[in-house]
Amino acid sequence: MGRPRLLVVSMSLPVTAKRVGEESWSFTMSPGGLVSALLGLKEFETKWIGWPGVDVHDAVGKQTLSVALAEKGCVLVFLEEVCDQYYNGYCNNILWPIFHYMGTPPEYRNDATITYESQYDAYKKANQIFFDVVKEHYEDGDIVWCHDYHVMLLPQYLKEYNSKMKVGWFLHTPFPSSEMYKTLPSRSDLLCSVLAADLVGFHTYDFARHFEDACMCILGIEATSEGVVDQGKVTQVAVFPIGIEPERFINTSALSEVIQYMEKFKNDFGGRKLILGVDRLDTIKGIPQKYQAFEKFLEENEDWRGKVMLLQIAVPTRNGIGEYQKIKDQCHGLVGRINGRFGSISAVQIIHLDCSIEFNQLCALYAITDVLLVTSLRDGMNLVSSEFVACQKAEKGVLILSEFAGAGQSLGAGALLVNPWDIKEVSTAIGEALNMSPEEKERKHKINFEYVKTHSTQQWADDFMNKLIEITTNAELQAAN
Ligand code: G6P
Repeated sequence: MGRPRLLVVSMSLPVTAKRVGEESWSFTMSPGGLVSALLGLKEFETKWIGWPGVDVHDAVGKQTLSVALAEKGCVLVFLEEVCDQYYNGYCNNILWPIFHYMGTPPEYRNDATITYESQYDAYKKANQIFFDVVKEHYEDGDIVWCHDYHVMLLPQYLKEYNSKMKVGWFLHTPFPSSEMYKTLPSRSDLLCSVLAADLVGFHTYDFARHFEDACMCILGIEATSEGVVDQGKVTQVAVFPIGIEPERFINTSALSEVIQYMEKFKNDFGGRKLILGVDRLDTIKGIPQKYQAFEKFLEENEDWRGKVMLLQIAVPTRNGIGEYQKIKDQCHGLVGRINGRFGSISAVQIIHLDCSIEFNQLCALYAITDVLLVTSLRDGMNLVSSEFVACQKAEKGVLILSEFAGAGQSLGAGALLVNPWDIKEVSTAIGEALNMSPEEKERKHKINFEYVKTHSTQQWADDFMNKLIEITTNAELQAAN
C-alpha cells in the first residue's frame, strides 16, 4: 500500500507572493522555522494549503496567482477582509504573546472598534475559510496535517464534517504553562478543538506536559498512558522535535560560490572574530537583550574591542503590529549607542541588518562564524542553531543557546546554555566562547553535529505521520470489530 497523500495546512505558504504585473507574480521564500522545516518534506505527495502573504481582490489576480501557486504544489487561501484582525490581531497579538509568556496585551489594540471578540470572530471565520478549502481538495484516505496556532479550530471543523478524516495538529511554538494559558478567554474552545485531532504534537516534553495540564485544569480531562481521553475519544499527545534538512546546508556550504563568499566576508571583517545572530525581528528573540549582553562584554573586556564584531541579521516580520515596530526602533537605538561607545573610525562593533539574506551567503556566514548567539526569551525550537551546526567547517564555532528555546533541550550538550535575561551570564558566555580551546570546540561540535544529522526534518515528518497512520488504522480496526 502506498503512502497516503498529505494535505499540509498552515497559515503561511512556503512562498510569499508579490504582484509584479497585471497577470504576473514573483515569489520569495517565507520566513520562519515552520516553512524551512516543512520544505524538507520530500517523501510524501503533498499539497500545501495556506495564505500567500497578500490578499488579492480582482478576478484576474486570483486566477493567475492560483495557477502560479498550483505549479508549486500549493493551494491558496484568500482571507480577504478578516486577514488583519485574524493574522495581526488574534494570531500574532493575542495567541503569540501568551504562548511565549509575554502576557496578554494590556489593550488588544488601540482602536476601540477592535476588541477581543472581534478578533476571535475573525479567527473563527479564517479557520472556517481554511476548512472550506481543505474540504474542496480532500480525497478519501488523505491525511490532513494542521500546523500551528493559526488553525487551532480546524481539527474540530474537519472532524465534525467527516469523523473518518485522519487529522493531526502540530504546534511549532511553545505551549505555555497552564497558569499562562488560562488567561486566554477562548481557552476551552481552542483546547476542545485541538482534542478533536487524532494526534497532537509538540517539540518538547515540557510543552506536551503543559498542554495536558491545561486539559486537566481547564476541561477536567486527565491524560492517561493512552492519551487524553474525553468521553471515549482518545487524542494522543506526543513529542516530535523538529530538525532541518542537514544535507541542504552541508552541500551548500561546500559550493565554490559559498567558499568565495566566505573569503570575501572574512576579508570584509578584517580578521575580527565574528559573533552572528540570525532571527526574525520578533520580540521573543531577545535581540535587545543580546545587544545589552554584548555591550557589557565590551565594557568589561577592553582588549576585545575592535577585535570582535556582532553581525545581526534581523529578518523583517509582522510589520502591521505596533510591538514589532517598537522593537525595531529599540534595536536601532541600542546599536547606535554601542557603536557610539565602542566603535572606532575603522570599525563598528555591531552591524544590524533589517533584511534577510540570500541562502548561499547565509551558509557562508554560518561557516565562518566564531560564535552563534541565540538569546530567544522563548522559542518553539529555533532551527537557526541546527543550521549553524550543519555548516561548520574545519575551525568550529561555538553555539551560545538560550535555555528557553526548544533547541536547548536537544543541542544543549554541545552548546553554552544561557538565561538570556541574565545579561551578565550571557556576557560571560561570550568571553568563554571566544576563548574556548579548539579541542573543546571540536568536542562540542561533534555532539551537536551527530544530533543534527540524525534528527532531520524528514525523520520528524516520518515519525509524526507513522504515528498518525498507526493510531488511525488501529481506530479503524477497532471500529470494524
Ligand atoms: C513562527 C511560527 C510560524 C510562522 C513563522 C513566521 O515560526 O511558528 O507559524 O510562519 O514564525 O511568522 P510570520 O508571521 O512571518 O509568518
